[in-house]
Amino acid sequence: MSKKRHEELKKIISRHDYLYYVMDRPEVSDYEYDQLFDELIKLEKTEKGLDLSDSPSQRVGGLPLDAFEKAPHRIPMLSLANSYSPEDIFDFDERVKKFLNTDKDIEYLCEPKFDGLSMELIYENGHFVRALTRGDGAVGEDVTQNIRTIKSIPLKLSLKNPPALLEVRGEVLMFKEDFAKLNETQQENGQQTFANPRNASAGSVRQLDSKITAARPLRFYAYALGAVEDIEFKTQQEIEDYFVEVGIPSLRNKEGLELVKLCSGPDQVASYYHNIEKVRPGLPFDIDGIVIKVNSLRLQDDLGMVARSPRWATAAKFKPEQAFTVIEDIAVQVGRTGALTPVAIMKPVKVGGVTVSNATLHNQDEITRKDVRIGDTVVIQRAGDVIPEVVSVVLDKRPAHSKPFEMPTHCPVCKSTVVKMEDEVVTRCVNPLCIAVVKESLKHFVARRAMNLDKIGDRLIETLVDHKLLSRFSDFYRLTKEQILSLERQGDKSAENIINSIENSKSPTLARFIFALGIRFVGEQTAKHLAEHFLTIEKFIKASEEELLVVPEIGPKVAKAIISWTTNKELVKEIHDMQKLGVRISNPVRSQEGKLSGMSFLITGTLPVKRDDAKDLIEKNGGKILGSVSSKLNYLVVGEDPGSKVEKAQTLGVQIISWEDLQKML
Ligand code: IVH
Repeated sequence: MSKKRHEELKKIISRHDYLYYVMDRPEVSDYEYDQLFDELIKLEKTEKGLDLSDSPSQRVGGLPLDAFEKAPHRIPMLSLANSYSPEDIFDFDERVKKFLNTDKDIEYLCEPKFDGLSMELIYENGHFVRALTRGDGAVGEDVTQNIRTIKSIPLKLSLKNPPALLEVRGEVLMFKEDFAKLNETQQENGQQTFANPRNASAGSVRQLDSKITAARPLRFYAYALGAVEDIEFKTQQEIEDYFVEVGIPSLRNKEGLELVKLCSGPDQVASYYHNIEKVRPGLPFDIDGIVIKVNSLRLQDDLGMVARSPRWATAAKFKPEQAFTVIEDIAVQVGRTGALTPVAIMKPVKVGGVTVSNATLHNQDEITRKDVRIGDTVVIQRAGDVIPEVVSVVLDKRPAHSKPFEMPTHCPVCKSTVVKMEDEVVTRCVNPLCIAVVKESLKHFVARRAMNLDKIGDRLIETLVDHKLLSRFSDFYRLTKEQILSLERQGDKSAENIINSIENSKSPTLARFIFALGIRFVGEQTAKHLAEHFLTIEKFIKASEEELLVVPEIGPKVAKAIISWTTNKELVKEIHDMQKLGVRISNPVRSQEGKLSGMSFLITGTLPVKRDDAKDLIEKNGGKILGSVSSKLNYLVVGEDPGSKVEKAQTLGVQIISWEDLQKML
C-alpha cells in the first residue's frame, strides 16, 4: 500500500515540478506542493525497500565530493564554427549546397544559441543515471549529483517503453532575473558575486558540495542527442519534438514563443537572425547568437564533420551588448546591512537598447582585480538584464597620474570607521545609527512584501529623515497629518492617503512583521518559518540560539544574527513601542495548519448550522472561503435549496459536497 502511494507521490510531484519549472504553469499552491513533499519524505523515512532512484527527494544534494571523476563521452561533444557577421549565413549555405551537390533550398532548423554551460544527460531505460560536462569534448566530468538537483530535469522519462539508452545534450543556464536575485543575496551575505549568468551557472555546476548547487536557480534546455539505442529519428525537428514528448525541457515547450524555427534557404535564416536579435533583450535568459542546423539527419550524416565541428551546423553570433564609456567618479553606497558598494558613475551610454550611467563594481576585490580607476575608459556590458557591469579597462586610454581606487576607511555617510571581516569580501559600516543604514532599513520596513505602507516611497522617507520626523520604525506610527503637510509639495489629499496607509499597516501577520524588521539573513521565507515556529512575537524575541536552530533552514549564522537583534534592548523596545501605538501582530499560521489548509470552499443553500459558524469552522481549520464559483474553487458545500451555483460548479468540475462530507473531512 505505502509502496503504491510512494510511486504515486513520485509521479505527482514530478508532474508539478514539470508544470512549474518547464511550463511556467503551476497547478497547485506552494503550500499544497510542500504538503505532498512532506508526505513523500515521511514515507521514505518510515518505509523500507522503496525505490528512491527517481524520487524528487534525491534533488536536495548529497555528501560533498573530493573531486569530480572523469568519464569519456560515447560520442564526442563537438564545437561549432561561428561568425559575427550575418552575411556569413550565406557562405555557410553555399558550402552546404556545394558539398551536397545541389542547388535546391536546404531546410534548416534554427534556434537561439544559449550562453550557458553544455551538458550531457544520460538516461538508461528511462532513468537519469549520469550527467557529464563537455570537458575537452572527448572526456567530461561526472557532475551527476549536482545536475540531479535541477528540478526541471526529469529523473524518469514519461514513456511506457523507454529506449535502453538516450543521451541528451543541452545547456545548463540561469534566468537573468534569478541571477540578479542570487547576486543580491550573495552580496548581502558577504559571499562572492558572479560576473554574469553563465559564470554563475558554471560556478554552481562545479560545486563539490551538491547542497550548494541545489540552492542555485539552475535550468536546463535540450538541443541535441548523443548516443541512443532503440530509437531513430529522421530530422532535427523530430528530435526536439521528442524532448517535449518525454518531458525534457527544450525551447519547444515554451508556449507562445516561436524561438525554434524551420527555415527554408538562407534568406529565411537571415531574417530569423534579425528577429531573434530584436527579441534578445526581452528573453528570460542570455543568448549570444543563433545556431543553424541542417534539418535532415540523412543530410547531416552526408555532410559529416571537419576538424572538431560539424559541417551541418554553424553559429551566427550577435554583437555583444557592450559599449565604451568613461568613468567620471566612483561613489560608495551604503546598504541596509551597512555593506559598502562601490559604484562607477559613468558618462551615459547606450547598451543593448538602454541608456546607463552607473555600474556596480561590487567590492574592493573586484576593483583590484580589474584595476578600475576614475578617469578610465572602460568596456561595459549589461549582465543579468539591467545592472550594467564593467568588463575591462582600456589601458591605452588611461590618463597619466591616475591612482588605484581604494575603499574608504570611514563610512561616506556617518564617518564612523568601517570594518572588513576576514571571511568576507564586503566592507561594512557597523554603526547601527548611520543615517544611510537607517534610511535603507526604513525603506525595507515599508516595502510591499513587508509592512506594505504603500503610499510611502523612498523619496518621502529621505525627506522625513532629513526633517528629523523619522528615525526609527515606531516613528511611522507617531506621524501626524500636520507634520506631513509641513513638508514641501504635500497637499491635503496626499497627506491623508499617507496617514491612511500607515493606519492600514497596523495589522501585519507575524511573518511580514519579522521580515520587515530587516534582521540580517532573515528574508521572507525565513521569516515565515520563524512565524510558523514561534507563533507569537514575544516567543520569537525570547528565543535562545538553541531554540532558533530547531527552526527549518536556520543555521548558526542566521541564529547569531537574530540573537544579536533580539538581545538589543533598543530594538526590542521599538517593537513594544509600535504595539503601544496600535500595531497588532496577527498570526494566521496557527489556523493554516488545519486539516483544510490549502483548500477553498464556498457555501450555498441552508445548512444545519448558521452560515457564519460554518465559515468560522472552515477557516479555523485552515480552509479559505471564496466569494464565487470559479475554477479556483475546490469544494462547494451544498445545503438545502441550493441556488444556481451548483450547476456552475458542475460545469467547472468543482467537487460538490454536503455538510456531512465536510464534517468527515475534519
Ligand atoms: S547544437 C555540434 N544548439 O554551442 C554541436 N548547440 O559552440 C551541436 N550551444 O557546445 C550543438 N546553444 O554548448 C546547439 N541551440 C543550440 C545551442 C548550442 C548553445 C552551444 C553548445 C556547444 C556550443 C558549440
